[in-house]
Amino acid sequence: MCGIVGYVGKRDCSEVLLDALSKLEYRGYDSAGIAIHTDGEIKTCKAKGRLANLEEKLRLSGGIKGHCGIGHTRWATHGEPSDINSHPHGNATVTIVHNGIIENYKAIKTRLEGKGYVFQSQTDTETVAKLLDYYYKGDPIEAIRRTESKIEGSYALGIIFKDFPNTIFALRKDSPLIAAVGEDECFIASDVPAILNYTKNYYLLEAGELAILKDGKVSFKNLDGEDITKEMLVADWDMESAMKGNYEHFMLKEIHEQPNSITTTITPRIVDGMPNLEECGMTEELLRNYKNIFVVACGTAMHAGLVGKYVIEKIGRIPVTVDVASEFRYRNPILTKGDLVILVSQSGETADTLEALRLSKRNGASTLAIVNVKGSSIAREADFVLYTHAGPEIAVASTKAYMVQLAVMYLFAFELAHAKGTLSTEECKRLTGELCNIPNLVESILKQKDNCQYVASQLVNSENLLYIGRGLDYALSMEGSLKLKEISYIHSESYAAGELKHGTISLVTELMPVIAVATQRELFDKTVSNVKEVKARGAKTFVVTHSYINVDSDVADYKIGIPTTDDLLMPMLAVVPLQLIAYYTSVLRGNDVDKPRNLAKSVTVE
Ligand code: M6R
Repeated sequence: MCGIVGYVGKRDCSEVLLDALSKLEYRGYDSAGIAIHTDGEIKTCKAKGRLANLEEKLRLSGGIKGHCGIGHTRWATHGEPSDINSHPHGNATVTIVHNGIIENYKAIKTRLEGKGYVFQSQTDTETVAKLLDYYYKGDPIEAIRRTESKIEGSYALGIIFKDFPNTIFALRKDSPLIAAVGEDECFIASDVPAILNYTKNYYLLEAGELAILKDGKVSFKNLDGEDITKEMLVADWDMESAMKGNYEHFMLKEIHEQPNSITTTITPRIVDGMPNLEECGMTEELLRNYKNIFVVACGTAMHAGLVGKYVIEKIGRIPVTVDVASEFRYRNPILTKGDLVILVSQSGETADTLEALRLSKRNGASTLAIVNVKGSSIAREADFVLYTHAGPEIAVASTKAYMVQLAVMYLFAFELAHAKGTLSTEECKRLTGELCNIPNLVESILKQKDNCQYVASQLVNSENLLYIGRGLDYALSMEGSLKLKEISYIHSESYAAGELKHGTISLVTELMPVIAVATQRELFDKTVSNVKEVKARGAKTFVVTHSYINVDSDVADYKIGIPTTDDLLMPMLAVVPLQLIAYYTSVLRGNDVDKPRNLAKSVTVE
């Protein structure tokens, strides 16, 4: 949510900032801007809309030359997307870029207005810029410390002062921020992909840490003004993994990366054919003793948790509650010492999930993070971490991250069930073997995209759609539905197939296509009955099921056949056509697949 960057070095700052911002545009894309030290002053250029608009504006105005500056790509929270509300904000003395929310900005604004300050934008960020100006008396660090002591909320800030033309100051609380070092050059960024073109060496700022970037070096201070030393990290993502390559969209590329992501995620965690999660400290003894499990996450990650619930309860016989993080944190959940809370997050920075984690710890529960981004806040704060190795996920619509969240959920469920004695060693090995074969089966599904393109062509003019399923198919339908609405803007809902006739079936007409997921063989006949019910009311029906199962034409207008594995693992296969259907529908509707309207990749505000 908002991307911030900064560069100080010998290169053309404007070029570096624009390039770095292009790697962060997935974090927000309603406006962008840069500010650069040039000829003894700070020059700013901002433009509403995509980064391309800023590039064009810079081109037409002759650009800004310089070697030290900051940049921003925005997802609006306070004030509509406009040139004025775009970052950077500031004046001739100090200019900033900000990611996060300043909760007490109104009070600060009123106070500063009383001192004669005039505000131009509707943003919370401008209050920080003005507060810095107010406190600045020649010592930037003192001004930053005093400002920090007055602001509440979440923030990552990049700051430049006119009097310090070769220095960037950066401060973090809650919103993610890295400082990176190349050869005689330094960077700040909200996320690692922004710097990969230049260096892999970076530092993760923690809450209350201030970075000072100057002369090719980064130094750090705490808020007492004391020097601190930090461990340098080396990014294990390469530039290629953060590029589109020959694919038209990141989403399509990421869908195709799924077989490899699964293999990379599970292989190191399988020993002698058995799941082994000891790497994160999760011993069989610990697993045996949890009384309740909670899975807390948002969006797609929460949907991975729903699949986890079905699987863990079925084979591990332990109650699992799945919660949307924004609800969990305010519903005063009943948590006790013997409970385990699993936080699932691609970014590891989702504000509600992070707060849910903190709440769980305060209540004495153990916490396990299933996270994709190394060193992210959720990963650092949880008691145990299992990284999903999906590599960078750039498309706003999550695909490969979901897939590997499922993979880790399965390994966890198998190991827990084995530890508890509800799954025999033989059965555990068999299921683990089936999991190892999933990448091949996903590969084979990816070779038959025509059927998904056909379904997309049938959906493209719909305004409403239903996804139905039972059991694991229902859990998966939720993800199919979210994926479709997120990028195609077609309204869709997912429903437990057996629940339809308790109200929702009244919506079904010939204008309401229905996608039924029917991979759970013990529930197949029941789901088929529900599909017949909607077909009898005029709905066009598309059924996702095992290739070998024949589906009569009085049930399905169109069948999407997928290979067979154990029913427990079928969501990992059935999700692929659902992702592709959403993708092709979005393409046919001419939408911006990777950057759907109103959304941003990493939701760091609640
Ligand atoms: O980074 P996280 O996994 O915590 O993000 C959670 C959701 O914001 C995310 O899954 C969102 O729902 C995706 N855009 C769905 O495709």
